[in-house]
Parts: sequence; C-alpha cells; structure tokens
Amino acid sequence: MFDSKVSELLNSQINKEFYSAYLYLDFSNYFVEQGLNGFANWYKVQAQEERDHALLFIQYMQNNNIKVTLTQLATPEVEYIDHMSPLKAGLEHEEFVTASIHTIYDAAYQVKDFRTMQFLDWFVKEQGEEETNANDLIRKMELFGTDPKGLYLLDQELAQRMYNPPSLVL
Ligand code: FEO
Repeated sequence: MFDSKVSELLNSQINKEFYSAYLYLDFSNYFVEQGLNGFANWYKVQAQEERDHALLFIQYMQNNNIKVTLTQLATPEVEYIDHMSPLKAGLEHEEFVTASIHTIYDAAYQVKDFRTMQFLDWFVKEQGEEETNANDLIRKMELFGTDPKGLYLLDQELAQRMYNPPSLVL
C-alpha cells in the first residue's frame, strides 16, 4: 500500500508538469509573435519535455497501482513586458517545481518509501539542470539581448535545440 500523502503529492505533480508545458507553450507563442523563432523553438522543446515529465508521473503511479486523477489546468498569466520577462518567469517557475519535487521526496523519506525516492532522484537532477539552463539563458540575454545583432545570433543558437525523449524509462 502506498502512503496516501505520497500518492496525493505524486498526483498533484502531474498537474504542475502539464502546467509547465502550458506555460512554456505560452512563452513560445509570445516569441513567435515577436518574430524570434529560435526562442520560440527553445520553449516549445521545453514544453515537450514538461509533457514527458507529466507522463512519467502517470506511468510511475500506474506501475504502482495508484489511481491517477487529472485536474484542471490554470491559464498561464505572464506579463510580457519585454523579452526578458518570460525568461525570468521561467526560472521562478522552475524553482517552484524544484521545491515541489523536494516536498514529495521528503514525504517519501518520512515513510521510508525508497521506491518513490529512487524514482524522484532523476527529477531532482533534472531540476538542477533546468535551473542552470534558465539561469544561463537569462545571463546570455543580459549580455547580448540588448544589441539587435546579439539578439539575432542568440535566436539562431536557440533554434538549434532539438527535442530528445527523457532518459528515464519506466
Ligand atoms: Fe518538469 Fe521543468 O519541471
């Protein structure tokens, strides 16, 4: 039997991951409107990864006979003041998701749910990488984003990002 608190937290993480996909898709749409297709590509790939994260939580729960309940997604509400604002909102969101993963980990730890801890290990590492990527992007934007040529080159760089399925297989 799975601990009810751990099960509940796992279930609520599904919504957070799908919401992340929704949020990044909103960023991507903004950048399409702005004519920055490289940034749009980068966030679209990010959205695909977030959808994969949600599916991994679903798969893990189903593998362990935990009932999955899908809940309504919130509308992303980001104020697009400039090109930097989605980048900062993205970092803030990743920090929120990291805290959420750590909360589940802590709940699993409390009840000696080693299986869930092991499942979450991948996400703990992934969150570290995502925060690094979000920080790097902000740094690059600070350095080059105010110069049109710099922004053009950065957009070209971000256009290269390709979707890769998650390395975690359940
Ligand atoms: Fe799946 Fe970036 O959190």
